[in-house]
Amino acid sequence: MNDDVLNHDILDSDEIQLEQSLRPTQLDQYIGQTQLKARLSVYIQAAKQREEPLDHVLLYGPPGLGKTTLAAVIANEMVVNFRTTTGPVIEKQGDLLAILNELAPGDVLFIDEIHRLPRNVEEMLYSAMEDYYVDIIVGDGESSRPVRFPLPPFTLIGATTRGGMLSQPLRDRFGIVEHMNYYTEQELADIIKRSAKIFAMTITDTGAIELARRSHGTPRIANRLLRRVRDFAMVQNKDVVDIDLVNYALNLLKIDSAGLDQVDQKILLTMINYYHGGPVGVKTMAANIGEEIDTIESMYEPYLLQIGFLQRTPRGRVVTPAAYQHLQIPIDKEEGEK
Ligand SMILES: Nc1ncnc2c1ncn2[C@@H]1O[C@H](COP(=O)(O)OP(=O)(O)O)[C@@H](O)[C@H]1O
Ligand SMILES: [Mg+2]
Repeated sequence: MNDDVLNHDILDSDEIQLEQSLRPTQLDQYIGQTQLKARLSVYIQAAKQREEPLDHVLLYGPPGLGKTTLAAVIANEMVVNFRTTTGPVIEKQGDLLAILNELAPGDVLFIDEIHRLPRNVEEMLYSAMEDYYVDIIVGDGESSRPVRFPLPPFTLIGATTRGGMLSQPLRDRFGIVEHMNYYTEQELADIIKRSAKIFAMTITDTGAIELARRSHGTPRIANRLLRRVRDFAMVQNKDVVDIDLVNYALNLLKIDSAGLDQVDQKILLTMINYYHGGPVGVKTMAANIGEEIDTIESMYEPYLLQIGFLQRTPRGRVVTPAAYQHLQIPIDKEEGEK
């Protein structure tokens, strides 16, 4: 069994293909993020009427919330090409120039993990985004001079799990900056039912809601869990996935009744057992449980804060009474009253 079912946003090639098949292509098939969709829909219509490319868009939020999917939907709605790349693979200015050079007027260029662009590449983006040109230094020594490359008007869509790590000058060049939120249970249940249809499987309403409740507010995890549950249904020879099967499968996958996976639990238990529930800084937390700081900050912490199991204080994070209650651990009075 794969212990990584929730823990990472690392995808194998199977899953990438599967996600592709589950991706909505139009704004009205894209479930949730209602206000964001409403705003985008206006911007898209306006840009189309003006026959101009859409303003540059920055999407930030935890992994698996649909940033890549939304970027592709935007390109599709604008009826332009969707070109994708990621920050870490663009190592030098020439790499970026090669990509920009391929763009047709109006195209969407999607840069995932945009906070990981090398500094000099990022700086080259400034003029590309603002005025559609880049200056490249050619030759060396005394004969070196800048050469200006004009670019077609285009839309840059940047995605990042770490909004705070983006430099101000880059952030300022996005006309549209949107934070992606965790999905509600009902939205996730709708996504699960849509995916179930694509998988040609039947899931009951209560089964879908229970699965949704335990999916970390995240469509990628909902789809992943659905796939696991489908395996259990197959082995047990069941045509319909119901709440009993969902409970059975999720318990085996060690996802508890609040939807916490083993890493979430480890974070809370470490804080309680070794630090009286906090405050604990994220570095200490990461060192104690053997996860990357980045992973904790981008996916675990936001969710635990969102469901009210962690609280932010100036000195670090603290475990809340609700988390103690959920874990059935009595609150350490002396610390709790401080
Ligand atoms: N709003 C949505 N409606 C339906 N499915 C979604 C939605 N958002 C995400 N998904 C599903 O979740 C998967 C992960 O989304 P993705 O766009 O890759 O997330 P991110 O880029 O934010 O990590 C996609 O394959 C898609 O199937
Ligand atoms: Mg993505």
